[in-house]
Amino acid sequence: MATLLSVEKLHTGYGKIPVLWDVSIQVEKGSITALIGSNGAGKTTTLRAIVGIIPAWKGRIVFAGEDVTKLPSYRRVERGIVLVPEGRDIFQQMTVYENLLMSAYNQRARQKIQESLERVFNIFPRLRERLNQKAGTLSGGEQQMLAIARGLMALPRLLMIDEASLGLAPKLALEIMNLVKRIRDEEELTILIVEQNVHYALNIADYAYVLETGRIRMEGPAKEPAENPEIIKAYLGVQ
Ligand SMILES: Nc1ncnc2c1ncn2[C@@H]1O[C@H](COP(=O)(O)OP(=O)(O)OP(=O)(O)O)[C@@H](O)[C@H]1O
Ligand SMILES: [Mg+2]
Repeated sequence: MATLLSVEKLHTGYGKIPVLWDVSIQVEKGSITALIGSNGAGKTTTLRAIVGIIPAWKGRIVFAGEDVTKLPSYRRVERGIVLVPEGRDIFQQMTVYENLLMSAYNQRARQKIQESLERVFNIFPRLRERLNQKAGTLSGGEQQMLAIARGLMALPRLLMIDEASLGLAPKLALEIMNLVKRIRDEEELTILIVEQNVHYALNIADYAYVLETGRIRMEGPAKEPAENPEIIKAYLGVQ
């Protein structure tokens, strides 16, 4: 398999405070790769650096063979690096339809809005039924679906989803995870998920990285840590 994203020895932080040291991550084309770790480990920060919301202090970010480390964020989005942010960054007062349209702003995406809408409704039929409903009145699960659908409207090649399961009941979280897997299978996308919940992540991922206080502590095929409760316990403090 070819590598779509390569994060090489990334150092970054906020102001003068470092948060990530030497973070290296490879995302293979067509894979679901998981970045797991406990609160404050630096997962969201890693995604922000990949999409260019915060700069890399040291290291490189290579996407589809191109060094994008110095590109502004909107240029990275144009190339297909799309982030579904933590906390479902949707416009509460706008309708589902308006929310979807707003995400198709980059040049590539603008030309394919109708096609993208059809693809999104195929995966999330509930959104079609609620097109004119204010996004803020959707259920938690529906809001998460909308957040992911917004990501798809931007025509990603790499879709990064930050904490898709956050605040959802287990059954709903699993449903969302299965939808993420379906998106990879049907849309032939590459997906990088960030999860605090190890079990959800490893359920659908091919490969996983464990981030601990700003450093990658472990990596491997996703099944291995799942079958090794000792490691999960040691690194993530959960059973
Ligand atoms: N905007 C910011 N300004 C300053 N420090 C920040 C900022 N955002 C995050 N941090 C700090 O960076 C560290 C890593 O935070 P980050 O949000 O990347 O963790 P995380 O792994 O995503 O955690 P969580 O699972 O709680 O979402 C934390 O110590 C956090 O306090
Ligand atoms: Mg986070």
